[in-house]
Amino acid sequence: GIASAIGLGIAGCGALGGGTIDTAGKVRFDRALPIPPLAKPTIDATGSKVFDLEARAGTTAFRPGVETTTWGFDDAYLGPTIVAERGDDVRMRVTNRLTEETTVHWHGMHLPARMDGGPHQLVSPGEVWEPHWRIDQPAATLWYHPHLHGETEKQVQLGMAGMVILKDRAEEALNLPRSYGVDDIPVIVQDKRFDAQGQFTDAVGGFIGSIGDTLVVNGAIGPYLDVTSETVRLRLLNASPARTYDFGFDDARSFSLIATDGGLLPAPVPLTHIRLSPGERAEVLVHVVAGERTTLRSVPPDLGVDRINAGMNAGNDTLDVLQLRAAAVLTPSAPIPDQLVALARWRAADADVTREFLLDGHEINGRQMESGRIDETVELGALEQWVVTNTMDAPHSFHVHDVQFQIGTIAGKTPPPELAGWKDTIYLPPQTEFRLLMRFTDYADRNAPYMYHCHLLTHEDHGMMGQFVVVQPGQHAGTVPEDTTAA
Ligand code: C2O
Ligand code: CU
Repeated sequence: GIASAIGLGIAGCGALGGGTIDTAGKVRFDRALPIPPLAKPTIDATGSKVFDLEARAGTTAFRPGVETTTWGFDDAYLGPTIVAERGDDVRMRVTNRLTEETTVHWHGMHLPARMDGGPHQLVSPGEVWEPHWRIDQPAATLWYHPHLHGETEKQVQLGMAGMVILKDRAEEALNLPRSYGVDDIPVIVQDKRFDAQGQFTDAVGGFIGSIGDTLVVNGAIGPYLDVTSETVRLRLLNASPARTYDFGFDDARSFSLIATDGGLLPAPVPLTHIRLSPGERAEVLVHVVAGERTTLRSVPPDLGVDRINAGMNAGNDTLDVLQLRAAAVLTPSAPIPDQLVALARWRAADADVTREFLLDGHEINGRQMESGRIDETVELGALEQWVVTNTMDAPHSFHVHDVQFQIGTIAGKTPPPELAGWKDTIYLPPQTEFRLLMRFTDYADRNAPYMYHCHLLTHEDHGMMGQFVVVQPGQHAGTVPEDTTAA
């Protein structure tokens, strides 16, 4: 029946009040990892790459014979991978075929606020929204997802998410795996919970939001990947609403972290595991030897939550994610470069402005997001220091639109190498202060805000978000209309 079909391959349910989930060694890995198709742009008269994305509803069989209602872009679940190059002019033609409003936010992208796809850029059913901008930032793994105020968790959970791969000359000059779907693999990880009818349910959610008991990777439960080269590049994206993962391999092999949210690190960082909270990305290079198998596994992340009351379900689970199956004969891969890209560190002493953000409950600085209120006014070009503190005994995270920032300090200390590169989203452990350095460039618009918020999606939906405008030096913030959809 349906219930037993849902339980296939996964043992040990009951995260609520009943301990933790452990699927280590219990997942069957009986499906090839689906690779999201590449979006195929057309070129318009101005030379822009035009990407069509259609938000639509459908059904997906995560288990044979069980159709789950899902949403996606151009497909019933998830969306195509968008590849663009630094210098490209891009135009996204987003058509809403759903029966409700949505927005599409380009997470990690440097672009004008009116193109950002935040809660102001509503796309009504039947409407087409066409943001356009020039890609001008380093090669990186970004993603897109809805940002409809109050509905983000629901729409993302239904499947509305996709990857963006940005390229540039600096990345192309390095000998790295970059053959999409062959040795350069998107790995979009989400946790789900299915009800007895095989539909998504988030009924089991605590303060941090919906924690699922079943992993879905690129839309598949328990997938394997046939690896055909000695080195494979995994682009890990945590597209889950609340769960933080700590990814590693079952045999504790080390891998090389080469990029974080906003692009390549100065040099590869050897690691045996990497923590990713919702919205964060990591590019890792993994070596395999012919014929072997190794499993990407998430172990209970160090959330710094020892003081959290024991009843909170923060997702301290052990979950098998993806099995790598190395072919009997592997294509040789180049050695991993020792150096990647230059990264000049900003210094707190050079900051023009320092702002404080206190996260508590569902509020930032004691208030929740109001679409007509500008919370911060930032001058174009200034070096900003944002001091972000989680004052609670529970997890939060922090994401800033438009920029990639550098972490200056974490609880007063220099960040570890895996957090020393470009970031747009960070996990915020309880009672911890992060100092972030960032510079807003190119796009000033006193009447159109960008967002900063907790990326635990239920918190974002509850208004744990603020709005800032970037203005020309000396300007004041303007007024924000309810809807700043670009014409
Ligand atoms: Cu990934 Cu403001 O969002
Ligand atoms: Cu939060």
